[in-house]
Amino acid sequence: MKIILAISGSIAAYKSAFLTRLWVKNGHEVQILMTDSARQFITPLTLSTLSKLPVISEIISENAWNNHVELGLWADAMVVAPATATTLAKMATGIADNIVTATYLSARCPVFVAPAMDLDMWTHGSTRRNLDLLRGDGCMIIPVGHGELASGLVGNGRMAEPEDIVRCVEVFFAPKKDLLNKKILVTAGPTYEALDPVRFIGNRSSGKMGFAIAEELAECGAEVTLISGPTKLTATHPSVKTLKVESAQQMFELATAEFPTHDAAILAAAVADYRPKEVSDVKIKKKEANLTIELEKTPDIAAHLGTMKQAHQRIVGFALETNDEFSNAVSKLKRKNFDFIVLNSMRDAGAGFNSDTNKISIIFDEHTFKVFDLKNKGDVAKDIVEELIKLY
Ligand code: C5P
Repeated sequence: MKIILAISGSIAAYKSAFLTRLWVKNGHEVQILMTDSARQFITPLTLSTLSKLPVISEIISENAWNNHVELGLWADAMVVAPATATTLAKMATGIADNIVTATYLSARCPVFVAPAMDLDMWTHGSTRRNLDLLRGDGCMIIPVGHGELASGLVGNGRMAEPEDIVRCVEVFFAPKKDLLNKKILVTAGPTYEALDPVRFIGNRSSGKMGFAIAEELAECGAEVTLISGPTKLTATHPSVKTLKVESAQQMFELATAEFPTHDAAILAAAVADYRPKEVSDVKIKKKEANLTIELEKTPDIAAHLGTMKQAHQRIVGFALETNDEFSNAVSKLKRKNFDFIVLNSMRDAGAGFNSDTNKISIIFDEHTFKVFDLKNKGDVAKDIVEELIKLY
């Protein structure tokens, strides 16, 4: 991992040297940032020797601008340790007047804060308020320790020990294995319904949503069977077994055969609703001005699996709607016996087929639903899988 260790001016700054050693020993890249006052407590030389990278302590040094934006984008995690009352206040209110707080405002990665201060500063109302603001902005606050403080007072305010900070960051990034020992079936992509040996009726589904869900399930420890219609995608996680099909009928047969040995099914495929009633053995010739093709319904995989569902099994369906979105989705949820349905509306920019983003609502019934922001499909997959995990 690429870690920014941002040090502000507290006597606890000496512990940052141990913290740096632990991370470097574990194979992480550590870029150290320091405030001016931090340099009074520990030298940049000590830290750069341990991190094997120059320490940055100013926004502008030796006539060069240290790019806090680049630093903020580079890092996988930013850890402010020790975080003084002043640095907390600056972070909480967006005062970017040093390299630490400027980089904090530019960071897109998870940010951890290990406060260090004296007892009364720690309990002061302004510190409490600033910590609440930082929590609200998504920062993880690493609990302080209890014990003797530099002032001689005894109480809360000691910075967490380096080993505890390392563990907090590790726990945060450790892969969740909530779906260990669960087998989950996923359908993805479009289906192609043949007209003749060269032509088909299909749709614009890319399969990205279903593949992202399969990968996320596998990340959470599940064994995944992914039944995919024709797409250009390949699943990379070793716990995803991909079975390729072309038509709705093939997807139906495979899904019906597989479902009984699975704990859940997430049906993200855009299955064709109709197929040509007759499939010509030879290429259909261009003759008349008009050509009429009779279509018949394909089997509804979701509805069929809904009738097969056992008490231990869960089914999640999708609804891609253009109008009356909510009521259409609720009626599908009930009709197909889903545990919840993921609704995306074609009216939302960036949602639906072929894009890398999606905007969804997750509906449990007409009174219980969640509306999510526009996100990339990987993050949407995380939201969907998280709701499935809650069902267990
Ligand atoms: O009825 P509608 O096609 O809108 O329902 C969408 C949901 O049903 C999706 O989860 C889709 O994967 C599933 N479905 C299916 N088989 C079909 C049609 C839809 O599994 N033939």
